[in-house]
Order: sequence, then C-alpha cells, then structure tokens
Amino acid sequence: MTVTQRIWWKDGVVYQIYPASYKDSNNDGLGDIPGIISKIDYIKDLGINIIWISPMYDSPQHDMGYDISNYEAVYAPYGTVDDMERLVEACHSRGMRLILDLVVNHTSDEHEWFKESRSSKDNPKRDWYIWKPARYAADGTRIPPNNWRSFFSGSAWQWDEHTQEYYLHLFAKQQPDLNWENPVTRRAIYDSAMEFWLKRGVDGFRVDTVNMYSKGTELKDAPIIDPGIFEQPASGLFCNGPRMHEFLREMNAEVLSKYDTMIVGELPHTPDPAHVLRYVGSGDKQLDMVFQFDIVDLGTGKTHKYEYEGYQLSGMKEVIRKWQQFIDGSDGWTTAFCENHDQGRSVSRYTSDAPQWRERSAKMLAMMMCAMTGTLFIYQGQEIGMINAPKDWPIEDYKDIESVNYYNSVAQRTNNDPKALGHVMKSIQILGRDHARLPMQWDSTPYAGFTGKKDGAWMRTHDLYKEINVASQLNKPSSVLNFWKKMLKTRKDYKDLFIHGQFDAFDMQNQETFVFGKRFGNDRAVVALNFTDEEQVFKRPDVGGKMELLVGNVEGGDGSEEKLMPYEGRIYLVC
Ligand code: GLC
Ligand code: CA
Repeated sequence: MTVTQRIWWKDGVVYQIYPASYKDSNNDGLGDIPGIISKIDYIKDLGINIIWISPMYDSPQHDMGYDISNYEAVYAPYGTVDDMERLVEACHSRGMRLILDLVVNHTSDEHEWFKESRSSKDNPKRDWYIWKPARYAADGTRIPPNNWRSFFSGSAWQWDEHTQEYYLHLFAKQQPDLNWENPVTRRAIYDSAMEFWLKRGVDGFRVDTVNMYSKGTELKDAPIIDPGIFEQPASGLFCNGPRMHEFLREMNAEVLSKYDTMIVGELPHTPDPAHVLRYVGSGDKQLDMVFQFDIVDLGTGKTHKYEYEGYQLSGMKEVIRKWQQFIDGSDGWTTAFCENHDQGRSVSRYTSDAPQWRERSAKMLAMMMCAMTGTLFIYQGQEIGMINAPKDWPIEDYKDIESVNYYNSVAQRTNNDPKALGHVMKSIQILGRDHARLPMQWDSTPYAGFTGKKDGAWMRTHDLYKEINVASQLNKPSSVLNFWKKMLKTRKDYKDLFIHGQFDAFDMQNQETFVFGKRFGNDRAVVALNFTDEEQVFKRPDVGGKMELLVGNVEGGDGSEEKLMPYEGRIYLVC
C-alpha cells in the first residue's frame, strides 16, 4: 500500500465549538470568545490539536451566524477581532491550530453587498446576487422563477417589491445566495472572508455548503417528488453544478496555496465516491477533505428531513464501510465524525440515552470513532456524552429556524393535524439541530456553569446537567470524559492502524453487532461493538491470529468472553 503523507491535519483531532453555547464569560447569557479562551487548556488536555469554531462573524443571527453581515467583524456579544487574535495566539502558543467556518454560498441580507445589490437594477453589485424576473400563471398570478424549495421551508425565491424581481436564497430569506459566476464577486469573497483571517494567523476553514456555489445558469424546475405542494426539494439541481470544481481550484490557487491551511468542505447530497474523490484528490488541489453526510442522514425522511423513517444497523455499517473505503488506493483523504451543530446527539440517535446505558453507549461510540480512518472531528459536549433534550420539551423550547419553520409549515398545511404534527415532533426530538446547541454542561451550578446570568442562557439548559457535566467527570477515572482521553491517546499511539489503516467490515447483515477490522502493513486490529441493550453473541471474525484486548468499555472483561454485554465495545490487536 502507499504510505500516506503525514500532514498535520491528517493526524490531528478537531474539536468543534459552537460559540453561542460554549462558555459565557460576561454573564449576558451568550457564549463568547473570551469564554472559549478560558477553556483552551481543558481542550488541549483532552488530546485535541485543532479547534474549529462555528461562525463568530457579525450577523443578525437568523441562522445562528450562518447569515453573515460582515466577514471582517466579530458579532459584538461574542467579542472583537482583537479577541480572535488572542484566540489564535492562545491556540498557537500551545501547539494547536484554529480553523474558522467559511460561509460564502450566501451572506446576510444585511451585508453591505446585498444592500447595494437590492438598491436598484443598475447598481454595480446587482449581479453579485442571483436576481430573476417573475413568471406568471395563465390567470396572471405571479410565481417564482422556479419551484425550488429552500432548506428552511417555503420557496427558495423572495420577491423584492422595490426592484420587482426575485432573489435566490437556498436557506432563509435573510440569506441571499451570492453569484459565483461573477469573477469580481469571487475576488471580493476571497479577500474579505478568507485573506482577512488568514493574515491574522487562522489555519484554515471548514467550508459551509461547499458544493452549492455553481448552480448553472438555467435554474430549471425540480421534478415533483412531494405532490400537493409547489416547492420541491431541488438539491440535485443546485449541488455540484458545472463550474464547482473550477471555482474551488481557483480558490485554492489564488488564496489557500499561499498559506499552510486545512480545508474541510461540507459536502451534502453527493453519494458517488468517484465524485467525492474529485473534490479531495491531493493532485487536483481543491479541498483537503470533506464531510460526506450519509452517516448523519441515516433515517431522515425522503420528502423532508423531519419526516424521520428510522434505519437499521446494517444501513449504518454500509455507509461507514463505503466512506471508510472510498479513499483506498487513491491520494484522497477523509473525515470521521458523527456529530456537529446540525445534528442530534449521537448517543441519543445511534445507541441509548437511558440512564443505565448512556455512559457505556458514549464510550462505545468513542471507540468506534477513534478507530476510524481520516481526520477525527469531535463536537463540544460529545466528550462528556451529552444527550438530546428530554422528550417533554414543547416546540417553544426549540429555537432553530429549520425545525421551527418546518413545524409551522406542517401546522399550516394540515390545519394543525395532531397526527402530522406528532410525527414532526418525534423527528425533531431525534434530529433537531437544537440538541447540539444546548449550553455546554460544565458543572452542577445553575445553568450548568455555562452562564452566571440570573435568568439563564439564550437557550434552555438540559434538565440533566447535574448528572452529565465536565466537573463531575474530570476526576472520575471511569467517566466518559476520561474514556475519550484514553481513546484519543490510543488512536495516537496506533496511528498507522487507526488514522491511516484500511477498513474491513465483517458480518454486514447482522443488525445487533458491528464488527470491523483495520489493517496497516502487518498490523491488524478488530473492533467489536454491540448496538443493542441485550447481550449478543460475539462472532469472532477469522483473522488468522490471536486477538488480544487493547481496550474495552466494560470493566473487568479480558476480551475472551463469548458474549458482548449491552452496548459493550472492544478493540483487539491481532498478534
Ligand atoms: C450549513 C451549516 C448550517 C447552516 C447552513 C446554511 O449546513 O452547517 O448550520 O444553517 O449551512 O449556512
Ligand atoms: Ca457572553
């Protein structure tokens, strides 16, 4: 096999921070940059060497900062550009790196560029965004230029009274899409959103919705898959458009190649491995790696994400195998992740968050993740086994535009049908983006030690913060937190196998256990995980050697047991 090049971002472990919910340093109820700085030693001690922070830019916060009104300023409640420079320094002085979110498919409608663009049809920035005239039905009713549905429900087009045209917004109507066809716009994006921060020492970017910038010029209607409603899912039409690779190549050549950066793209709606390889092959400089979404899309509805359908373990194995193996024999690179700010918590989604199982489940998932090839990403709170909000939270406790808009659209469409709304609520309880956005649980003082504000944080604190928090886990050797530390160390100690090895799956149809192997040269490992709350027979794969237990999440076991306890995980080395 080819020995992979060892670049810092390959062996690194990334920790994602959601600024609003990490640590509030001045008791206004919102997390902030000084709060993050105060926790850098905690993060380093966990075994992390790269921090990614979700958008901290100036923003009216319709989509929690993914609607940016100024790339070169920090949202005032989070801090200042000086605070960001201090954060860069705090990371670099500890041998860590910092990457930012790069959100350049759209800006906020409050960005100066858009204000100019919408001011008149002949404004020089008019075509920095995507404007189109209306269509008219036979009876004269005005209809949008096409039937695309926005990710946050409703049409992807917003009518502008002032200039009598529609503008495109794939996300909220406050997030107009930039027109990447215009080279002047692209240059402005590179300067303002990228160079500004790279010059201040930032080490790279997580690139938001990286495959949506080239939409083609036709903007055709999407086929109807959700009958009875005008707006249709259209990702097949606006993702991976004709000039996508050209744009990323240009971004790399004009900006990134001048710095030592790490670039990870968010790549939804791209199921073909050969296609993904075009983005991440090291020869064709575009991206270093991407997040492919199959694992976190498991069970999501066909007509809409929040029409949850459930999934089987064999389905999860299938997608993990696919995306672990897709770089085999290539010069591409991959990522390992199962949580981020857009997902429900992994313990609640894939295992059990019941009191008797949640810690063991969290440890088992830590084993699965730490044994995977690629750059590993951990989301804040995952290291202490944070779980989804309790099921009795009413819709009013959910804040996210995606779930709230969808809930309201179904309420309207079905005239408040309890069955339809019950199903949506169930889906939100599993998949809602808010679960990951609950305040970080630091200790057992009010509001989990996240804020000292009297009436609490911007978002409701999890009811179980007294049971699940950092302080109670730090000095407890058997805690989830200490297990993660141990696993991250194990991953590092055996980096050939775990970070760079080849992946083999066994017994793919088994719906209870997930058994996989890793290989690198003559080294081999076997990972066995029980995804149920019952004992399961452990079918040892035939690996032609002696299996010696390296690590397990059930105390007292020596690895020889024929059965896996509920949510037990074991990693063996093959000698
Ligand atoms: C990405 C972000 C998500 C955001 C969207 C629009 O998917 O992860 O949080 O809402 O892009 O920027
Ligand atoms: Ca604050």
